[in-house]
This record gives sequence, structure tokens and C-alpha cells, in this order.
Amino acid sequence: MIKACLFPAAGYGTRFLPATKAMPKEMLPILTKPLIQYGVEEAMEAGCNIMSIITGRGKRAITDHFDISYELEHQIQGSDKEKMLADIRHIIDKCTFTYTRQNEMKGLGDAIYKGRVLVGEANPFAVVLADDLCVNSKGDGILKQMVKLYEKYKCCVVACMEVPTAEVNKYGVIEGNKIEDGVYMVSNMVEKPDIDKAPSNLAVIGRYILTPDIFSVIKETKPGKNGELQITDALCTQAQKGMVIAYKFKGTRFDCGSVDGFVEATNYFYDLEKKKNKK
Ligand code: G1P
Repeated sequence: MIKACLFPAAGYGTRFLPATKAMPKEMLPILTKPLIQYGVEEAMEAGCNIMSIITGRGKRAITDHFDISYELEHQIQGSDKEKMLADIRHIIDKCTFTYTRQNEMKGLGDAIYKGRVLVGEANPFAVVLADDLCVNSKGDGILKQMVKLYEKYKCCVVACMEVPTAEVNKYGVIEGNKIEDGVYMVSNMVEKPDIDKAPSNLAVIGRYILTPDIFSVIKETKPGKNGELQITDALCTQAQKGMVIAYKFKGTRFDCGSVDGFVEATNYFYDLEKKKNKK
């Protein structure tokens, strides 16, 4: 039912300068795989096969990554290196990639709005922020868990997790009533609130299922925090007019938009790889 996944990937990644001076932050590798490929794999597991990427200037490496590289593949054909491209070849075979550019950095709400031409206005779609690398070693990936919840409630779903109070000002924060274990009916959402004004410590992380009526809500939304068009503000309107669900997902999220989170993710996948190789 949810076939398209939107990847806002136009940001500059200034926290990783100088690495991101000429390279998209979404292409930074955790071990040997770029961040955005983890997101694409999570979306495929959730049933998506249309990957719609909002890019910007200097992001061509993303387009090239999700395409065949004839010279390289010819070069390594028949060698033991060939298997290192097996996963990406599988993705390219199974998925269609579409792209548009966000010409100006006007916020996540604006980036998602730009994705309208790619995902259309007929069906619900997923949004993955590749900076938030999510894993669940015990079962379904985070997006798949959310798709299941969408099937039940048929409304916008946001992923959330508890964060220390001192960190609420880095996130969209929700207020809501628990309707089942780990599921909240959202009544209010605030983008990066002051610590003493946050409605809770339930922070939104970069996974959303959105119904297409969100586009008309975004269109009516005024710029908010930092003068940017915030998806949090549009979802708050949606929650108050209709219904939005926040879901405390099962699994772990690494904040790969920060050096600390990036290193934690690297260590996690390195240990996993070592364990696999021992077997
Ligand atoms: C964005 C959203 C924010 C959300 C966060 C999750 O912020 O605007 O609501 O909590 O992603 O990572 P950003 O981190 O891009 O500033």
C-alpha cells in the first residue's frame, strides 16, 4: 500500500565539515555502506519500491550511487570483489529512483512539499531522514513497524523516542494521550522547544508516514522555528484538525547527523560484522 518513500537530502551537513565540503553527508559511510543506503534498505523492507530523493546542489554522488557503474563493474567482473556490489545491485534492480531538487534551504516542511511531484497526491507515503540510522535486531525495522500501524489507524504516523529533558530542544516534541502500548494520539507538537517549555520528552525522530492531504496543510503553514517551514507545525495542525499518531518504536536510533552518533553507529555495525565473521 505504501510504495513511495521520500528522502529529504538537500542539507549541507555542516557538522561534518570538511568531509561534506564536496560530498553529500548522506554518502558518508558506516563501514562500507553510505548512510542513505541503510535508509533505502529499511524502506524496501517496509514494502516501498519507489525511492524519491530531494537533493540539492553538490549531491550528484547520490544519483550515481543508485545507478549502474559499467566501467567499475566490468573491471571487477569475475573477481571476489563482485559480491561487494551485490546489495546495491539488488536495490537498483528492485527499485525506481526519482529525484527533484530543493533549490533553497527553507526547512523540512518545504523539502517534503517539493517531493509532491515525486510521490503524487493519491497515496500515503513514507519519509526517512537518513541521518537517523535505525536498527531493530529483534524483528521488523522501524518503518515496517510504522506501516503496520498506519494500516490500523490510516492517519499520519511519526516515530518518537524518549530523550533526556536537556536534549528536547534538538527535536520536534509531541504531547499526546496513550491509546495503546507505545502509541499516542498527538494533541500538540512543538519544533525544538525551549527546555523549560517542552510539552514532554517524547522526541520525533526521522521516520514519518504521511497522508497526501499533508501537502495542502504544508501549503498553508507559515515559517516557524528558525524561519523555516517545519513539518512539525504542519503535523500539529493535522493532529488538531484530524488525527496523528506518535509511535514509540522498537529498536535503536543512531543520530548520524552528529559525530558522536556516527561513531556509535560505526562501532555497532563493526561489532555486528565481527560477530558474523566469527560464526
Ligand atoms: C528534524 C525535524 C525534527 C526531528 C528531527 C529528527 O530536525 O525538524 O522535528 O525531531 O529531524 O532527527 P533536524 O535534526 O533536521 O534539525
